[in-house]
Amino acid sequence: MCKELKIEFSHTLVSEIHVGKVEELLPTLLPEGRVVAVVDRNVRHLCDRLGVEELFVVDASEEAKTIDTAAKIWSCLVEKSADRNTFLLGIGGGITTDLVGFVAATYMRGIRFGLVPTTLLAQVDAAIGGKCGVNFGGYKNMIGCFAPARWVVCDVNLLSTLGHRELRSGMAEVIKTAILGDAALFALCEQNNIESLAGNDELFGEVVRRAAAVKCAVVQRDLLESGERKKLNLGHTLAHAIESLTREYTHGEAVAIGLAYVAAKSLNGGLLTQNDYQRIVAVLQHYDLPTSVDLPEDELWAAMGHDKKNKEGRIGWVLPTGIGELVISCQ
Ligand SMILES: NC(=O)c1ccc[n+]([C@@H]2O[C@H](COP(=O)([O-])OP(=O)(O)OC[C@H]3O[C@@H](n4cnc5c(N)ncnc54)[C@H](O)[C@@H]3O)[C@@H](O)[C@H]2O)c1
Repeated sequence: MCKELKIEFSHTLVSEIHVGKVEELLPTLLPEGRVVAVVDRNVRHLCDRLGVEELFVVDASEEAKTIDTAAKIWSCLVEKSADRNTFLLGIGGGITTDLVGFVAATYMRGIRFGLVPTTLLAQVDAAIGGKCGVNFGGYKNMIGCFAPARWVVCDVNLLSTLGHRELRSGMAEVIKTAILGDAALFALCEQNNIESLAGNDELFGEVVRRAAAVKCAVVQRDLLESGERKKLNLGHTLAHAIESLTREYTHGEAVAIGLAYVAAKSLNGGLLTQNDYQRIVAVLQHYDLPTSVDLPEDELWAAMGHDKKNKEGRIGWVLPTGIGELVISCQ
């Protein structure tokens, strides 16, 4: 199975997203000439398996997603005499793909790169859309740029070594994407569970492809995040606040709580039917994701006010109005 999606950033820069077997796709996508890989330590064996030269191993954590790590990768590129024709390959989760995009965009004013995301979250979200960067000054993704990968290869087979918690967290982003743009994907999530998806590459590939397709379509209409792309932030206003206050939750779990919260907000505002509200909460719970948080409300509101995505102290909410549709509103 290889189903290609793409985002045209300009006439000359097109980012292709392929969902299929990495061993089959990579040989057709890698350019002639030198290829070096930056790889997440937990999937380091993939360099051998894919026959690519290992340049740098990332110990993935938010603490390591820094300009210092980027500088270490720049140093390795210099040491290995990488030039403007060198192709950089990123293999790993969102931390690795964000770092690789940033390094590739800045080394020698930009070299070509491709990504093999190895977490569900990275396959449906982080590796797609050209946003990359590092954490700085205590803030996530504070330094970065838009730099699209030439291609992204999403192989669900690579997810077989991911822990259940990581998989469930990735499903929160899949469910988010389904709510904002694909009712059929939402139904697929309802009808399946982690076990049935993880045990069926064809079906799981279809879920990843559909989620990636929604992200591609939204990004294509708003390449630089000046309007519609904010939709992708569904559930993230509260999620970012939760993540800034506690490390108890993964990003996906925080997003799940955020999704349940905006669904309730929409229900209370008369924007969402009781049935759709219940479907959203039920599907999150079906994937064992949390739908509420026990943190002081004043601290959450204060944290939400500090989110860098808000303007002039106003909290931006993205609110669902149904399964597969939503409105953006402000408070
Ligand atoms: N650029 C974007 O548009 C965008 C969008 C969403 C998230 N992000 C970023 O993505 C990052 C989170 O990404 P993530 O959730 O993939 O986290 P991650 O990269 O930290 O990976 C999660 C964990 O899984 C491990 N891992 C990765 N692949 C594995 C595999 N196949 N088997 C076993 N273990 C594996 C990693 O070593 C790590 O311990 C955040 O930094 C976030 O800011 C970026």
